[in-house]
Amino acid sequence: MLNRRVSILLGVLVILAMLFAACGGNNATPNNTTNVEEPADEPVEEPVEEPVEEPTEEMAEEPVEEPTEEMAEEPTEETAEEPSAEEITLRVLAGNVGQELLLTQQAAERFMEQNPGITVEVLDTPDFVQDRLGVYLQLFEAQSPEGDVFQIDVIWPGDLAEHFVDLNEYGAADVAGEHFPAIIENNTVDGRLVGIPWFTDAGLLYYRTDLLEKYGYDAPPATWDELEEMAMAIQEGERAEGNEDFWGYVWQGNAYEGLTCDALEWIASNGGGTIVSPDGVITINNPAAVEIVDQAAGWVGTISPPGVTGYGEEEARAVWQAGNAAFMRNWPYAYSLGNAEDSAIAGMFDVAPLPAGASGSGAATLGGWQLAVSRYSEHPEEAARLALFMASAEEQKIRAIEGSFNPTIMSLYEDPEVLEASPFFGSLYDVFINAVARPSTVTAPQYNDVSTLFFNSVHSVLTGDAEAEDAFAELELDLQDLLGFETGQP
Ligand code: GLC
Repeated sequence: MLNRRVSILLGVLVILAMLFAACGGNNATPNNTTNVEEPADEPVEEPVEEPVEEPTEEMAEEPVEEPTEEMAEEPTEETAEEPSAEEITLRVLAGNVGQELLLTQQAAERFMEQNPGITVEVLDTPDFVQDRLGVYLQLFEAQSPEGDVFQIDVIWPGDLAEHFVDLNEYGAADVAGEHFPAIIENNTVDGRLVGIPWFTDAGLLYYRTDLLEKYGYDAPPATWDELEEMAMAIQEGERAEGNEDFWGYVWQGNAYEGLTCDALEWIASNGGGTIVSPDGVITINNPAAVEIVDQAAGWVGTISPPGVTGYGEEEARAVWQAGNAAFMRNWPYAYSLGNAEDSAIAGMFDVAPLPAGASGSGAATLGGWQLAVSRYSEHPEEAARLALFMASAEEQKIRAIEGSFNPTIMSLYEDPEVLEASPFFGSLYDVFINAVARPSTVTAPQYNDVSTLFFNSVHSVLTGDAEAEDAFAELELDLQDLLGFETGQP
């Protein structure tokens, strides 16, 4: 019975989530949450290891089975008297970008081995951040106990704090000191630790070492102007040699959180600030921001595919990993996948800091994910134990080695095995430490609205519907209406 109820509820949620994705939580929500298979105009081979399925479907397909089912079907006197006294099922809502889901499932297996009586189910959720948030909000609105542990974005603690327990009350206080203090601070809302850091991220420039050498470059580009020039020269050369599908630069241009990250990098790298300053001034309407976003719009259809305005992380990686791009902006997870056996470019690339604008220095957006325990969970104690297990040094080390996911535990950056698997964790350490935060703390609980206004505005410039000057003047007004903050220069 319980299972049936859960299945039905999850089914309803799936439908709601699909509706949300289809209708759009905003006027430009990506309309395909599962991506990868067909980057808008780039029919490249599918290099992605795990075929990406409709994420929400799995929530419907694989809900709750096993122990509780048996108990529900064949109630004995004993079990009827002691309902599920020993058997507990925990559900983790997790991401499925690259190897994420697989690694999370493996961690769940290890936890179950050590914790007999607890079944862990890992449910995958949409890739695009705003779509995933939509699924979570449906559950929270219903105060549903169906999700116990939630993988949450570094930008969400402020917006979602009320739905999570204080992990400090469940043992996190003992281990918090092992993690980067800035992330612990980010995840602490009104003194409550609402997520234990799991992995961190920063935007990186991936570049083809073989092609740089072939075209006579001895270093990756230090500025966006250099990147344009190099991307164009390599693109022309590779096409002339017969690869019609080759592009200079791929990145995340769809109207979603990923574009907020990319565009923040362009703007910060040009001295144009961070949309809203940490002390609450709306700074987006400034000449340096306008200049660099207009410059980026010029990449669409020249060094970047026209379809880049529909790309998320996985679409960019698909083109890159098939060997069809000279440069890519992406997160660290693409490193280990790019070097996997089935990758066309294994051993032929490296990573560098992102380029600088004419009036600034290179900037990387801070990303990353935490594990949070729902306030509506029926088993917060066990769920917290699971979250702390998954975020432990041992588990973070496995993810770092297998999936090039940056640990949040500082000592792992000195671990020889971790550094051997991903040498850039050491060589680009400063990039990770100095990554630029999105204005999620200062605008909470309205960050998602801020970001949505921002990426829609940038997207309209990328697609040629507006000039950055007009788009940002309007965005400034919209942000003022939303937040009631002052405006100013960065
Ligand atoms: C990565 C980052 C996350 C960011 C997202 C945008 O998953 O870790 O912080 O919001 O990309 O697509």
